[in-house]
Amino acid sequence: MDKILVLDMGGQYCHLIARRIRDLGVFSEILPYDISLEKIMEIKPKGIILSGGPNSVYEEDSPKLSNEFYNYISDEKIPLLGICYGHHLIIHQLNGIIEENKIKEYGQTDLNTPHAVGILKGFKIKEKVWMSHGDQVKELPPGFRIVSNTDTCPIAAYDNENLLIFGVQFHPEVVHTPSGNSILEEFITTYAKAKKEWKLENWIEQSIEEIRMKIGSDNRVILGLSGGVDSSVVAVLLHKAIGDRLHSIFVNNGVLRKNEVFEVQDTFKNKLGFKYFHFVEAEKLFLERLKGIEDPEQKRRIIGHTFIEVFENKTIELEKTHSNIKFLAQGTIYPDRVESAATSKSSVKIKSHHNLTLPDNMTLEIIEPLKDLYKDEVRRIGFQLGLSKELIRRHPFPGPGLAVRIIGAIDKEKLDILREADAILIDEIKKAGTYDDYWQAFCVFLPLKTVGIMGDFRTYENICAIRVVESLDAMTANFAKLNWDLLEKIGTRIINQVKGINRVVYDISNKPPSTIEYE
Ligand code: XMP
Repeated sequence: MDKILVLDMGGQYCHLIARRIRDLGVFSEILPYDISLEKIMEIKPKGIILSGGPNSVYEEDSPKLSNEFYNYISDEKIPLLGICYGHHLIIHQLNGIIEENKIKEYGQTDLNTPHAVGILKGFKIKEKVWMSHGDQVKELPPGFRIVSNTDTCPIAAYDNENLLIFGVQFHPEVVHTPSGNSILEEFITTYAKAKKEWKLENWIEQSIEEIRMKIGSDNRVILGLSGGVDSSVVAVLLHKAIGDRLHSIFVNNGVLRKNEVFEVQDTFKNKLGFKYFHFVEAEKLFLERLKGIEDPEQKRRIIGHTFIEVFENKTIELEKTHSNIKFLAQGTIYPDRVESAATSKSSVKIKSHHNLTLPDNMTLEIIEPLKDLYKDEVRRIGFQLGLSKELIRRHPFPGPGLAVRIIGAIDKEKLDILREADAILIDEIKKAGTYDDYWQAFCVFLPLKTVGIMGDFRTYENICAIRVVESLDAMTANFAKLNWDLLEKIGTRIINQVKGINRVVYDISNKPPSTIEYE
C-alpha cells in the first residue's frame, strides 16, 4: 500500500498531519525524525512530510536530517513537504537563511497567494491560515520560489518543483486553516502520486485474519474492558476472531458514571453474548485507597496501580481454571502511542494522561489490534462491527474517571452527587439532539460552598461546573456555545434535583490555554 511518511520534529499538531492524510485515503504513519535511513528505505514512502516543532534550527541539538536523507529523496524523487519547523529546517540545511525571531506569531492570519501554484494550487488570493512560529525564512536557496506571504512573514510558502520540495510556514493540518486539506491533497496526489488505498472495510477482514493467525487455534486472550469505545471495539473484533476464547474483565473502580456498571454488563453479557465476561466489584477498595488524596497525579497513580492489582488477581484466578491464557489484548490506539511513547524526543510533555499499561512481569504477549488507528477510524470500525450508536458515539471518558472531576479529595457522597448532575446534563443534551456535536460534555464538582435559597430555606452547598467542548482530537478545544434556554433548563434541573448542589456555572474556557479536564 502506498504510504506517506510524517517525520516528527516534536510539534503538538504532528499526529494531525497523518490523520488528515488518512482521511484523504492514503495510509500515513509518523516516525521520529532521527529514524534510520534504512528504515525509511524499507517503508518506501511515496512522499515525506516534516512536522512543526518547538525548536529553532539554530539550537545545537534541535532536530536535523542527514545529508544521506536529502540525497536519498533526491535520487528516488520523493517529494518533501516541510511544515513550520520543517519549513525552516529544509531551507537551513539547503543553505538558505532563517531569521531568528523572539516574538511569536500565533493565531489565524491572512495569507496572500498572488499566483496559486504548486501545492497551493487550490488557494484563493487571500485565505485564512493558522500560524504558530517565532523564526521565519529570510532568504531562499537558488532555484526556490516564493509562493505566499503574510503582512509579517514575506516567505510563508515556497517550493522548488524540480527538486519536489515544498514548505509552508503555517499549519495546513489544523481546522483553523480552512483550505489546509487542499495543500495536503495536492501534495499526495499531484506530486507524491500516492494511490488512495486506505479503506477501513479491508482493514477489518485483514485484522481478524491476523488475530487468528497470531493467537492460534487453542490459546486464550484476556482483555481489560472499560466499556469505552476503544476497548469495546477490540472486544468485538476479538470475539469475532476467536469467539469464547476471549475473557473480558470489567472492573468497577467506583469512579464510573451513573448506570455505567449496569450498561456495560448488559451490552456485553446479554446483548452481545460474551460467555466469559468477568465483572469485578472493587469500588470499596478504590475508594478506601483514594480517601483524603487531593493531588490529581496521585489520584491517577492510585487508580492505575489498583486497577493493575485487581486485574492481575483476576487473571491469576482465571488461569487456574483456564489454561492457555497466553495473550493480553489492549485497546491502545495510535494517538496513545504517539503521546506516551513519544515518536519524538523533542515533543514537550504537557500532562501525563497515560491509559493504563500493564506490568511487564505478566508473562502474556500483548496484542493491540487498533494500534495504528485514530479514534474516528475506531468508531467507524465499531459501527461496521455492529456496536450500538450509543456506545460508539459515547464521549471519551478519562481512565481516572470522576476522580479527576471532583476537585480535591473524593468520597462516595461527592461521587453520587456528581453522577446525578452529570446524568441530567447528558440527558438534556441528548434530548436537545446535540450530543454528537460535542467532543465531551460533563459536570465537575467544585467543593466550594456558596449560599442559596430554596423555598423558605437558606442553603449552603457546592458548585457544579458544566464543561461542554467541541474538538476534533482533544489537542485543541473550544467551549460549546450552548443555547441559553437549554443551559437554563440544565441548571435548574440540577439545582432542583441534586441535593448537595445549589449553584451551577458554565465553563467558557478554550484549550489552550485551559485543559478540557479540571485536574
Ligand atoms: P485535557 O484535560 O488534557 O484532556 O485537555 C484531553 C483529553 O484527554 C482526556 N484525559 C484523560 N484520559 N486518562 C485518560 O484516559 C487521564 O488521566 C486523562 N486526563 C485527561 C480528557 O478527557 C480529554 O478527552
